[in-house]
Amino acid sequence: MNHPPAAAEIGVIGGSGLYALLDNASEHEVSTPYGPPSDPITIADLGGRHVAFLPRHGRDHRYPPHKINYRANLWALRSLGVRQVLAPCAVGGLRPELGPGTFVVPDQLIDRTSGRAQTYYDTGAVHVNFADPYCPAGRRTLLQAASAVHPVDGGAMVVIEGPRFSTRAESKWFTAIGGTVVNMTGHPEAVLARELSLCYSAIALVTDLDAGVDGDHGVTQEEVFSVFRENTEKLRSVLLNAVTSLPLERDCPCARSLDGIKLPLELP
Ligand code: ADE
Repeated sequence: MNHPPAAAEIGVIGGSGLYALLDNASEHEVSTPYGPPSDPITIADLGGRHVAFLPRHGRDHRYPPHKINYRANLWALRSLGVRQVLAPCAVGGLRPELGPGTFVVPDQLIDRTSGRAQTYYDTGAVHVNFADPYCPAGRRTLLQAASAVHPVDGGAMVVIEGPRFSTRAESKWFTAIGGTVVNMTGHPEAVLARELSLCYSAIALVTDLDAGVDGDHGVTQEEVFSVFRENTEKLRSVLLNAVTSLPLERDCPCARSLDGIKLPLELP
């Protein structure tokens, strides 16, 4: 096990079923004011870019979505030097045409979580702009990198508290209010990244049709994990493509999200 200082510029936060990404990686224990991240962070060089990988749930999937220390995860990545984050995740489709195996690069988010720590700023006046929750450059890069699997460009990710899946009525309502896909981890990850001035973009793999869309049996954990497993190699290849194509210079609003704001704490 190595210890910081270590340098990375790009972070990938792996979701359910993606617990490792990098070969020949060094491993780093990182501590943060919020406690430890979900796992030690692995770092490797990929096509000249220094990439850090963190499995969101821990490599043994010990943290369910509502128990993930999202603040520690994003803080730890930033403290290693990461400024661009790619966030793969499993989602349920909220529209019949978005069946299992579909990739979606969302452009909006609807927060239906409750009780999660979703800010670094419990004092002072820090109100970040979150109108467009995902980095436009990261989204473009992911769409291009995923072109072989024909990703859906845009859509709103509804994030529920979990860990249970939705009822049919909740699911129908999510579709009615404009949701495209539904998951349990997209928030507060996205907003915490914005609060640290990180570029953050998500790529969602549909593992099931949510309960209100598929009139059959409702969602099961088994189908979610099994469809994810079947698509892990595709997802891995999209991510490896994407990290080598992210822009070297950040010329997007995320990089300026804290401009003009007096911060009550020092960022790593
Ligand atoms: N993750 C994968 N499928 C899901 C679903 N249907 N609801 C919430 N989270 C999910």
